[in-house]
Amino acid sequence: MTRNHTAERVLLEKQKLIDISIALTSETDLHRLLSRIISELRGLTSAQGGSLYLVAQDRLTFEVAQNEIIAQTLGSELLCFRCHDLPVDDKSLAGYVALTGQLLNIADVYELAADLPYHFDPSFDRRTGYRTRSMLVAPLQDHQGEIVGVLQLINAIGADGEILPFSREDETLVLALASQAAVAINNVRLISTIKNLFESLVVYSVSAIDARSPHTAGHSRRVAAYSLALAQAVNGCQEGPLAGVAFSEPELEELRFSAWLHDIGKIGVRDALLDKKTKLTEQQLEAIRWRIWLAHGQSHDPSERQALVEDLQFLQQINALPYLPPEAPARLARLAAKRLTRPAGDRSGEGSEPPAADYPLLTAEELAALMVSHGNLTSQEYAEIQGHALQTLHILQKIPFSKPLAQVPRLAACHHERLDGTGYPFHLTAAELPYQARILAIADVFDALTASDRPYRLGASCAQALHVLQQEAAKGRLDRDLVELFIARRVYEAVLAPTDAAD
Ligand SMILES: [Fe+2]
Ligand SMILES: [Fe+2]
Repeated sequence: MTRNHTAERVLLEKQKLIDISIALTSETDLHRLLSRIISELRGLTSAQGGSLYLVAQDRLTFEVAQNEIIAQTLGSELLCFRCHDLPVDDKSLAGYVALTGQLLNIADVYELAADLPYHFDPSFDRRTGYRTRSMLVAPLQDHQGEIVGVLQLINAIGADGEILPFSREDETLVLALASQAAVAINNVRLISTIKNLFESLVVYSVSAIDARSPHTAGHSRRVAAYSLALAQAVNGCQEGPLAGVAFSEPELEELRFSAWLHDIGKIGVRDALLDKKTKLTEQQLEAIRWRIWLAHGQSHDPSERQALVEDLQFLQQINALPYLPPEAPARLARLAAKRLTRPAGDRSGEGSEPPAADYPLLTAEELAALMVSHGNLTSQEYAEIQGHALQTLHILQKIPFSKPLAQVPRLAACHHERLDGTGYPFHLTAAELPYQARILAIADVFDALTASDRPYRLGASCAQALHVLQQEAAKGRLDRDLVELFIARRVYEAVLAPTDAAD
C-alpha cells in the first residue's frame, strides 16, 4: 500500500468511499463489519495497521486488530498483545478520543508533548519489535453525535515504503467513513437485539407450551438440536447420495426456527388430551364414580350393591389398560345398557325437589372411550391432536417472518408428513417435501420414541429408536439417506448423554 494523491486518485477514493458505505450497510455480522471497516480504512489511507474499540458504558472493548507487518513476520496471534479493553478516560489515545470526540492525528507517538493528558502505550512495540510511528485515532460517531467506538490507524506508508504522517485528506476520508460505520454498527446491533428478542420469545413460549405436559417437556428444544446436527452432518457429506445437498446459514436458521416452533399448534390441544394416560379423562371417571356411588347408597339390595362395586372395579381396570381384553366389549355393552334410578327428592338444597329419574351408567361418549382397542384415544381425540400440525401453520402464518425465514410456517407444519403420502395434514409426497422437512420428521420421531415419559410407553432405548427409524425408512416413510446419516454420524448424540447413546 502506498500513497499517491493525484486528482484522479481523489476521485477514485470518493467513489470507493461511496462503495464502501453501501457495502457496510449490507453487512449483518458485527465482527465481519468491524473487520471490514478497518481493512477498508487501511486501504484508503495506506495504513500498515489498525484497530477498533467499541464503547460499552465507561469501557472501550477491544474488537479488531490488523497489522500486515506483524501478521507476515510474527503471526496474527501476536496482535492480541494489543487486545485489551480500556477505560474511557484521557490517559490513553483511544480513551481520550472516546471521551472528547476529538480526532487525533499524531506524526510520531514517541514524540508526544509531555504535558498532554494522554500517552502512547509502548508495550506492544517492546514485545514485538514493531515500531509504531504515525497514528490517526478517530471517533466512530453516529448521526446523533453518540460515540459508538474508536478506530486507530497506524503507520501511513509512503510511495517508497517510508512511514509518513497521516494527511488532511486521510482525516477527511476517515471521518466521512467513520460516521457511516457508526450507523452501520448501530444497525447491526439493533438487528441483533431484535433477533435475540425474537429468539427468547420463541424459546420461552415454546418451552412453556411443551412444559404443559411432562410427555412433551423439552421436546422442541431436543428436536431443534437433532435437526441442526443432522443438517450440519449433511453439509459435511463429501460423497454419497447427500453430497450434492447443502444448507446455507440462512437455511440452517430457517430449520432451527421451524424445529423450535413445529408443535406450537399444540397450544390449542386440551390439557386433558396431552396428558391422557387412560381411556377416560379424570373428569369422566369421576362422574361415573359418583353415579355408581349414588346408586349404591340408595340401594337396599345387597346383591345389587355388590354388583355396582364390581362394575366400578371393572371400569377402573379397563380404563387403565392400553388395550382391550377380548371379553371386555360385551360387558361394557351390558353396562352401557344398564340404567340407574334416582328417586324423587333425593337432592338436598334449596328450591323444588327434582322428580324421580333414571339415567345410564355410562354415556355414549364414555362407552366410546372405553371401547378403544389400542392406546387411549378415540378417533375424535386423535383427530384433535393431529390438528396441531395445521394449527402450527395457522399460528405461524400470522407472524411476519422476514425473507430468510419465510418458509418456517410451511416447514414447521410439515413435520408429520411422510414421503409416501401417509402423513398429515396435507398428505404430501417425497417430491413436495424439501430436505429440511424430512430432517424435522426424523428428529421428531426419534425424540418422541426416546423421551422417557410418554403415556403408556417407557422411553425406547436409543438402539430401539434407531431401529424404528430404519423400519420407517424401509417402508418409504422417512428419508433413507438421512436416517442412515443420522445413525452413521451418531447425530442422536446431539442431545443424548453418551451412556444413553451406547444403549
Ligand atoms: Fe407434532
Ligand atoms: Fe413434535
